[in-house]
Amino acid sequence: MVLSLKERSDIMILPNLKETQKRTKNAVKTIEYSIDDKYVNLGKGKTYFIKTYGCQMNEHDTENIKAILEQMAFTEAEDMEKADLILLNTCAIRENAHNKVFGMVGRIKHLKESKPDIIVGLCGCMVQEEVVALEIKNKYKWLDIVFGTHNINNLPSLLNNFLKEKKLNLEVFSIEGDIIENMPAKRDSKYKAWVNIMYGCDKFCTYCIVPYTRGKQRSRKPEAIINEVKELKNKGYKEVTLLGQNVNAYGKDLDSSYDMSNLLEDVSKTGIERVRFVTSHPWDFTDEMIEVIKKYPNIMPYIHLPLQSGSNRILKLMGRRYTKESYLNLYNKLKKAMPNCSITTDIIVGFPTETEEDFNETLDVVNKCKFDSAFTFIFSARVGTPAAKMKDDTPLKIKEQRLYKLNELINKYALERNKEYLNKTVPVLLEGVSEKNEDLLMGYTDTMKLVNVKAPKKMLGLVASVKITDVKTWSLDGETVK
Ligand code: SAH
Ligand code: SF4
Ligand code: F3S
Repeated sequence: MVLSLKERSDIMILPNLKETQKRTKNAVKTIEYSIDDKYVNLGKGKTYFIKTYGCQMNEHDTENIKAILEQMAFTEAEDMEKADLILLNTCAIRENAHNKVFGMVGRIKHLKESKPDIIVGLCGCMVQEEVVALEIKNKYKWLDIVFGTHNINNLPSLLNNFLKEKKLNLEVFSIEGDIIENMPAKRDSKYKAWVNIMYGCDKFCTYCIVPYTRGKQRSRKPEAIINEVKELKNKGYKEVTLLGQNVNAYGKDLDSSYDMSNLLEDVSKTGIERVRFVTSHPWDFTDEMIEVIKKYPNIMPYIHLPLQSGSNRILKLMGRRYTKESYLNLYNKLKKAMPNCSITTDIIVGFPTETEEDFNETLDVVNKCKFDSAFTFIFSARVGTPAAKMKDDTPLKIKEQRLYKLNELINKYALERNKEYLNKTVPVLLEGVSEKNEDLLMGYTDTMKLVNVKAPKKMLGLVASVKITDVKTWSLDGETVK
C-alpha cells in the first residue's frame, strides 16, 4: 500500500539548535539495548543498503545499524538499486558533505518513482542540524524514516511504525545523550574493530558542528570497554581502535580519577595484538599517556594530532586552547619518547580573518613537524557555530591557493617520511586484497602506513614481517620475509 503524501499523517520530532548547545550536570543514563520479539521478522524477505558519509564513529554506527537490521531479518543488498530499504548515514562536518547527501537523495527520488515501495531513510549527524531537519520537513516529505545519532536503538520501532502506518517517521532528539550498551555490530573487517570509548564532545571549537550533532561528552565505563576488547580478542580480532572525538579527555566525566592513560594500559593488558586510538586533541594529551604508549608494545606508535592552524591568533579564535609553541612542544615530546612514532594531522585553511601571515605560521609548523600525512580542509561555515558569524572576507580563490600550497608541502613531507621505510622490514597486519592489484594483499604498518604486499592469501589476518621495496606519497610496496 502506498499512500499519497497528503494521506500520510506524519510523526515528527525535530531537533532544536538551542537545545543541542545545552550542557547540564544531569547524570548520563546507560540503556541496555535489546530488540522486542515482535520486530524480529519485520524485514523478512527484504534487503537493505546503507551508504555512509562520515568519520569512523559514523562508520561504526553503520555497523550497528546493519546488525540491528539483520536482527529484524533484513539481508544486505549488493547495491542500492536492488535494495528494499535505502539508508544514508550522513555527516555534517562541512558543506560539501551536505551537498553530496542531497545529490544522492535526488537520485534516490527517481528510483522511488519507479519503485514506490522502497523505504528510504536518512540518519546521522546531518539530520541533527535544525536547518536540515526543517528542510526535510518542508521539501522532502516523501522520505520514510529519519532518525538522529541518539536513537539508533529505536530503529526497529521506527521501521515498524513506518511499515504498519506508512507515515514519515522523523524522530531526531536534541538531548545531551545516553550511553547505549549491548548494541550488536556487523563489523566490516574480521581482523580490526572500532570500539567506542566515549560519545559526544564538549570542546565546542568555534568552527565545529559535532558538539551539536553528537551531544555531551559521555565516557563508557572502563569495564564495558575492556570486556568488549576481550570479546573481540576471543573472536580472533587482531586490532582495536578506541574511538572518540577527543579520546584524551576520556574519563573526565566519570566519578573517578580513571583516565585515558589508565584505559590504554588496561586495554593493552588484554593482550590484543594491536591497540590504536583516535582522535587526540593536543589540549588533553598527558605525560602519563606518553609513558603508557611508550611502555606497551601493543599500543601502536601512531598519533593523529590535529593542528588546525599554526597561528596563535587563529587558534584562539578557533577556541583550541593551545598555542603553536605548546603544540610543537608536545610534538617534540612525543618524538623524543618514541622516535619511530608517526604523527598525522588535520589543518583548516581560510578560517575567518586568516591572513597570509597566519597561513605562513601554519606552513612553519608543517615545515617543523614534517607530518607523515594530513587531512586538509577549507573552512566551511556551519549554521549555529560561533565561527559562522565571524566576518570572513578572504576570497575563495585565495583560500584555494592556500590549500594547494599547503597540500604541496604536506605531500612533499609524506613522501620524505615514507622514504625512511625503504629496505626496512616492518610489521604489517594483512587485512585484505589490494584495491590496485588482486594478486597483492594490503595492510597497515604499526605506524599506520598503507602497504601493498606480495604475500599469499593464506596470510590474511596475520601480522607479517614485510620488507619495503618501493615507496610512494600515499603508500608503500613490500614483500613478506621469512
Ligand atoms: N575531534 C577531532 C576532529 C573531528 S572533525 C579534533 O578535535 O581534532 C575532523 C576534522 O574536520 C577537524 O579536525 C577539522 O580539521 C575539520 N573540520 C571540522 N569542522 C570544520 C569546518 N567547519 N570547516 C572545515 N573543516 C572542519
Ligand atoms: Fe569538533 Fe573540537 Fe570537538 Fe573536535 S574537539 S569534535 S574539532 S568541537
Ligand atoms: Fe561527520 Fe558527525 Fe563524524 S559530523 S565527522 S559524522 S561526528
